[in-house]
Amino acid sequence: MSPDPVPRVLGQPWVELDVVESTNLEARRLAREGCPEGAVVLAARQTGGKGRLGRAWFSPPGNLYLSVVLRPPLPPAQAPQISLMAGVALAETIAAVAPGAQARVKWPNDLWLGGRKLAGVLAELETTAEGALAFIILGIGVNLVTPAGGFPAELREIATSLQAELGQAPPRGACARALVRVLERWYNMWLRDGFERVRAAWEVCSITRGLPVAVRSAGELLLGVEQGIEPDGALRLRRPDGAVVRVLAGDLEWRRG
Ligand code: BTN
Repeated sequence: MSPDPVPRVLGQPWVELDVVESTNLEARRLAREGCPEGAVVLAARQTGGKGRLGRAWFSPPGNLYLSVVLRPPLPPAQAPQISLMAGVALAETIAAVAPGAQARVKWPNDLWLGGRKLAGVLAELETTAEGALAFIILGIGVNLVTPAGGFPAELREIATSLQAELGQAPPRGACARALVRVLERWYNMWLRDGFERVRAAWEVCSITRGLPVAVRSAGELLLGVEQGIEPDGALRLRRPDGAVVRVLAGDLEWRRG
C-alpha cells in the first residue's frame, strides 16, 4: 500500500485585489509563472468574470470571486471530479457561514438556494506538451450581497444572493477563508481516498435527485430522471425507455410540472 500523500495546503500565497478582469485569468498567470499549488486569488469585483460555456459571470463589488491554483497528481480525465468536489465544499461552507441556509448542488457545478442559483464553479485545466495535467484553476463565484433587484434582467428570475435570501450576508473575507479551509479538507480527502466520498456527499446534496430533468449535451436534449453520479463523475440519467445513460458534460434543466 502506498503511504498517505502529504496533505496539501491551500491559501498560500493569498493574493487580494480590488479589481481584476477575472480571478481565473490572474490565477492562470500565476500558475504559468510557477506559483506553488494552493495559491489563492480573491477579488472585490471582476470586469470580465467568466462563467461556464463561454458565458459571462455577473461580478459587481461585494460578492465573492475566488480562484485557487491546484496541481493534483492525477490524469486529466479525473479533473472534472474537482468541480463536483468544489460544489460539495461550497454547500458545506454556506451552511457554516450562513446558518439556516440549506444550499444544494445542481449538476455539474452550480449551487442553488431558495430555487435560484447562488454560486457557480469554473474549473479550467491546462496540460503539458506530453498531455499530463499541469494545473487546474478552480474558480468560484458566490453572490453574497446583490439584492434581488440588482441582477441584470436576464438573471433576475434565476439568480439569488445570501442577502436576498436571508436578509444578510457574511463578510466576504470570512466567507473566503472558510471556503478555502473546507476546500482544503475535501481536496486532501479526494487525493487520499478517491472520489467515492465526494460522490456520496454530492448525491445527498443534489437538488434534482430522483427528479425528471432535461440535459443539453453535445447539441442533444436528453430527457430522463436524475439517478446520481457515476464513480467517475458522469451524471446518471434514466431515460423514458428505462435505459440508464451516462452524461459527461452539459447543462441541466428541470422539467417542472
Ligand atoms: C458558472 O456557473 O458559469 C461558473 C461561474 C464561475 C465564476 C467564478 S467568479 C471567480 C472565478 N473567476 C471567473 O472569471 N470565474 C470564476
